[in-house]
Amino acid sequence: MSIKMENDLIREEIQSLKKKRNAVILAHNYQVGEVQEVADFTGDSLGLSQAAARTEADVIVFCGVHFMAETASIICPDKKVLIPDLEAGCSLASTINADELRNWKKEHPDAVVVSYVNTSAEVKAESDYCCTSTNAVRVVNSIPEDKEVLFLPDMFLGAYVSKVTGRKLHIWPGECHVHAGIKPEQISKIRDLHPEAEMLIHPECGCVTSCMYYAAEGSIENKNTHILSTEGMIRHVKRSKAMEFIVATEIGIIHRMKKETSDKTFYPANDEAVCRYMKMITLNKVLNSLRDDIYEVKVPKELAFKAKKAIEMMLKLA
Ligand code: 13P
Ligand code: SF4
Repeated sequence: MSIKMENDLIREEIQSLKKKRNAVILAHNYQVGEVQEVADFTGDSLGLSQAAARTEADVIVFCGVHFMAETASIICPDKKVLIPDLEAGCSLASTINADELRNWKKEHPDAVVVSYVNTSAEVKAESDYCCTSTNAVRVVNSIPEDKEVLFLPDMFLGAYVSKVTGRKLHIWPGECHVHAGIKPEQISKIRDLHPEAEMLIHPECGCVTSCMYYAAEGSIENKNTHILSTEGMIRHVKRSKAMEFIVATEIGIIHRMKKETSDKTFYPANDEAVCRYMKMITLNKVLNSLRDDIYEVKVPKELAFKAKKAIEMMLKLA
């Protein structure tokens, strides 16, 4: 049987199981194209949390990484949340654990803790606010000016938020290996090759800090550079008049960009910006997950109760 025929059969089986089980499939923008195609909703971390919060399905198959499935389980404790591969972690989320955060808080006892959503449930439970790349600036702006802020775990997002809000933040020195691998030199090179293209940068990128600097001093044209979450990028390419875009984030997002704009061209800033955790989810694993209930992600009640407060603050400021 050809791979195409095999995949068609898997898709059919997924659709019938989905109906039978009243399940919904949520997929992050970095998922492989064929997984995005079977999803009921594809989006960024914030959009996926919102979709989990409003679904009436009994089962959520979360095609993303572990902390995202945990967030869904915290928001929807009565639903069954499944992740098709338990190994799908996040290198950024693992840069800080709850003990490290508790020690950091001891050094700054009056500080407000803002955690990027890429953190474990234990870290969220120790935080005051959760944020995503979409609303990090809004969250920090909502905190009284006289309060110290601990921002974690991404140092590039922290530097970006500090620059935009004009606030001095204490920033955890964490990074995502995929985004930190996108370097300013690569950006300069690709801009020279495609001078007409608009540039889209995820705020976790290693180039953000230097790009902000170049934009401020005028050597990057500000109007052609946009620092956006993955969903912000999708919205932008749909409404922009530009025909070419340099995309500085994980390359899985280009699948949706191409699908939602028929005639535009996208250049990855770095072809190797691939999140191996996101790519662990395959069509076959989605089917196994739905059929055999693997793997269930359930956050213990007490921990979920504490973590939920920070997540609710994030959804309130969405
Ligand atoms: P977004 O919330 O912008 O989709 O980013 C999530 C993420 O994990 C980035 O690597
Ligand atoms: Fe985590 Fe980076 Fe993968 Fe996003 S791209 S899920 S931050 S490892």
